[in-house]
Amino acid sequence: MQTSSVTKQDNFAEDVRKGLSSAPKHLSSKYFYDDEGSRLFQKIMDLPEYYLTRAEYEIFSTQTKEIFSAFCDDFAEFDLIELGAGDGTKTAVLIDYFLRRKIDFTYSPIDISAEAVDFLTEKFKTKFPGLKIDAKTGDYFRILETLKSESQRPKILLFLGSNIGNFSREKALGFFAQLRAVMNESDLLFVGFDLQKDPRVILAAYDDAQGVTAAFNLNLLKRINRELGANFDLESFSHYATYRPTECAARSFLISRENQTVRIEALNCSFEFKQWEPIFMEISQKYNREMIEDLARASGFRVKRNFFDSRHYFVDSLWEKSGKK
Ligand code: AVJ
Repeated sequence: MQTSSVTKQDNFAEDVRKGLSSAPKHLSSKYFYDDEGSRLFQKIMDLPEYYLTRAEYEIFSTQTKEIFSAFCDDFAEFDLIELGAGDGTKTAVLIDYFLRRKIDFTYSPIDISAEAVDFLTEKFKTKFPGLKIDAKTGDYFRILETLKSESQRPKILLFLGSNIGNFSREKALGFFAQLRAVMNESDLLFVGFDLQKDPRVILAAYDDAQGVTAAFNLNLLKRINRELGANFDLESFSHYATYRPTECAARSFLISRENQTVRIEALNCSFEFKQWEPIFMEISQKYNREMIEDLARASGFRVKRNFFDSRHYFVDSLWEKSGKK
């Protein structure tokens, strides 16, 4: 559901330079989502092995009423703000319910990608003619600042789909602290976390039989070729996924199958790859209840309520600000 894309070309180039000059080499998964990458992620969400989206959709569709009550036992009007809105399939379930209950609310999808936000706005305008939709494009925190002063109503911030899983613990804490800073006392944060489960189930989700996840990873090399004038030979890199149960972390790598040199024109330099050398591409952190409690506490929140799917594969965790921090 993540649809962020690059705003400044220089950052992309610089990040690629830094990542490929490091040991071990790495590239940032935040650059996966160009047009082709977003299409490939849509395909991932439909894969039989990729249980995350269906598990979260089950939560939204079977517990709509409970989620609604937890959102507004204290108030009857609010602004629903979705960070990294993607295609909005899960949110549509909530919106449909709120509209039928005649709740007074505004929906604000926020995404770095203008294209994603425009597409979602058009779709929802047709689907929900009565919906007050106020889409925004750009940096989350700058936009949230403006929303803070624009509206007096309670805000419910949504960060779904286990997008948080791509952050290290430090980055996640920093992200939550920034969100907390723009939230008022009665505002709520609703976050999707993928849970620890049979490691084989998790690994399969990142190593699908059709090779869509492999294509999704390789697409970043394609993007570097196209946007930075590089000559990566996609055939000579292969996708490799791991899951480490001790860290609850899935990781993906692209492995250089040969000794090779790759030239990147925009950086005016070349990079050497040894045979079997990995490029670390992405972390997809999995969580258990303690880890979620700990993240909430450490960033100044309290878990108000957790919503699980029937298999306990996924949780949408509703957080309120705790008194001190
Ligand atoms: C969009 C971050 C939730 O980590 O599961 C899917 C991205 N990467 N398959 C995830 C992804 C490989 C996805 N998130």
